Amino acid sequence: MNGKRTKHVELITALELAEARSAMLAAIVDSSYDAIISKDLTGIVTSWNHSAQHIFGYSPDEMIGQSIMKLIPEERKEEETQILAHLRNGNRIENFETRRVTKSGHLIDVSLTISPVRDLNGRIIGVSKIARDITDKKQEEERKKNFVTILSHELKTPITSMHAYIQLGLARSLKIEDQTLSNLLERAKSQTIKMTSMINDFLDLSRVEENRMFIDIKPFSLNELLLELIDESQTVAPKFYIEVNCPPLINVLADKDKIGCVLTNLVGNAIKYSKDSTTIKINCSIIGNTVKIDVVDQGIGISPENQKKLFKRFFRVNDTSDNKVNGLGIGLYLAAEIIKLHEGEIKVNSRLGKGSEFSFTLPLIPK
Ligand SMILES: Nc1ncnc2c1ncn2[C@@H]1O[C@H](COP(=O)(O)OP(=O)(O)OP(=O)(O)O)[C@@H](O)[C@H]1O
Ligand SMILES: [Mg+2]
Repeated sequence: MNGKRTKHVELITALELAEARSAMLAAIVDSSYDAIISKDLTGIVTSWNHSAQHIFGYSPDEMIGQSIMKLIPEERKEEETQILAHLRNGNRIENFETRRVTKSGHLIDVSLTISPVRDLNGRIIGVSKIARDITDKKQEEERKKNFVTILSHELKTPITSMHAYIQLGLARSLKIEDQTLSNLLERAKSQTIKMTSMINDFLDLSRVEENRMFIDIKPFSLNELLLELIDESQTVAPKFYIEVNCPPLINVLADKDKIGCVLTNLVGNAIKYSKDSTTIKINCSIIGNTVKIDVVDQGIGISPENQKKLFKRFFRVNDTSDNKVNGLGIGLYLAAEIIKLHEGEIKVNSRLGKGSEFSFTLPLIPK
């Protein structure tokens, strides 16, 4: 009799403990800043915490027993099938960024972490989902991105007029034969050229990231583009000798401005990563109905291991604060993206301590 009573008391204590634990877990779930939702394997919601109501606008009464599809925008309905298939295989999904729709019809950005829920035998019986509202974070990212684009655009206008005034000043200084003034203005001009090229890279970077980079393919004279480029490069780096070996009258079919940007970056690198007074060559050779353009330097060279990473965004060899050569690591990434849009590829051939050669091809205009 006494034994039975003790068992009874033990059972009640265990039940009370279980209840207390479950109440504590419920309190934790309810006080969470994130939405914590559970659903069965057909997507029917089985629990809905306080934050879920706060984020999505529906009360537990409106959601429990209903399909989770209520939260998924029309164009993303397929996602749920894929998520459930992934979970049925016992996999977890972490920080999946997507969009959901609230009761009031607003689209919000959420980050989802979804795990399978198993019974005591390890069978998957449902799904638990933690949803974090990242709308503010996304908007902040968007603002930052737009800020760089708007700032770059805004900077272009004053720099273009500065460049024009400097050109006028240069012409005047030559007329009055003031050598010191011409030297100073040449230096100022070189800085505006560098700034323009940096701004163009920033603008192109945001275009590439948003899949907004388009090319405008038209015939143009490669010889003329190279002349313009040499003129600018010699202004920026007067200590280098830039040698062009290009047959006359080479007309290509490509986007002149963008190819100008590729060459500016390749020649800019050749200058940046070589010692003063060395020669940089731009060689053009006709291969079938294309022209191959090589930019060759006698600079520091690149190891085979680093050559593989060169075209990645923000990659720089020795990217440390004591690296005396400034740069952002976007030049080659952009150059490679531009050449990809021309259905080509930039190839590199380099030896550490000996120099580098960057090459790409462009289609010639059929004669
Ligand atoms: N001609 C070259 N010789 C030696 N190293 C080079 C050469 N060209 C590129 N590199 C290496 O590749 C890295 C990436 O080049 P990339 O042009 O993308 O960036 P960056 O020159 O550092 O900066 P920026 O964005 O201003 O161009 C460079 O940091 C440099 O380490
Ligand atoms: Mg560069």
